[in-house]
Amino acid sequence: MRKAEWMIGSRARNMKIADQLIEAMRHAKRVAVLTGAGVSAESGVPTFRDAQTGFWADFKPEDLATPQAFRRNPKMVWEWYAYRRQMVANVSPNPGHHALVEVERRVPEFMLITQNVDGLHQRAGSKRVVEIHGNITRVKCFDDDGVVEKWEEKGEVPPRCPRCGGMLRPDVVWFGEELPPGAFETSVQAAVECDVFLSIGTSSVVYPAAALPFEALKAGAMVVEINPDSTSLTARASYVLRGASGEVLPALVRAAWPG
Ligand code: APR
Repeated sequence: MRKAEWMIGSRARNMKIADQLIEAMRHAKRVAVLTGAGVSAESGVPTFRDAQTGFWADFKPEDLATPQAFRRNPKMVWEWYAYRRQMVANVSPNPGHHALVEVERRVPEFMLITQNVDGLHQRAGSKRVVEIHGNITRVKCFDDDGVVEKWEEKGEVPPRCPRCGGMLRPDVVWFGEELPPGAFETSVQAAVECDVFLSIGTSSVVYPAAALPFEALKAGAMVVEINPDSTSLTARASYVLRGASGEVLPALVRAAWPG
């Protein structure tokens, strides 16, 4: 397959997208999408690994995103997630999220696999979403693992489980933890069965999510990376659309389904 890189940014908004890619999107029976933090960047949610602005530029994942960190300092971990939960509540989906809703509307089989825990895809209107890293708006018990619907923000930190008295924690997947049951199996199935796989706004360093575009490639799909920067996928992708997803995705949708 011919490899091409296209720059789509504010200075090159009208640059042509490869005809083969437009045709593939238009005629695809199955599209699978993997999203990462970059998709929410234009909504005002920081990514993890962007220099200066990413969360991991200021904090260490091992201090905030592991079960060991929570055991060591549950208050700090709870407060960091409470801060992020508040931030997410105050932002809105951006044109990239909305364009993916449009793709879902246009193709017969669609699956959106997201590493994002902010729920912005669903708030935009996406329906077929697998949240492989959980969702920050939910909490669960650290001891009995059951989801807790309501908790008191003003009392003890972290709040306690109403069932067993264990500490509550965010319902997200921390480093070293298993993905939610069935989430990866569903994702691999979507990756190996799709005609077109879009990898959007992810640095492609966190496994097993990072393996999905390679599974899709092995199975013969057209794999498209949408990202302003290079990743470990760039050299292998069938097409690379360089730019912000909030600009590239609407441009791709307009090109594939004009009017
Ligand atoms: N549009 C598209 N991509 C963007 C944009 C944008 N506007 N802005 C930044 N990016 C790209 C960056 O170039 C980078 O490649 O988004 C990517 C973000 O990468 P990470 O910060 O590593 O986020 P992600 O890949 O989602 O991280 C995976 O790591 O710590 C964790 O659990 C967390 O789910 C997360 C996982």
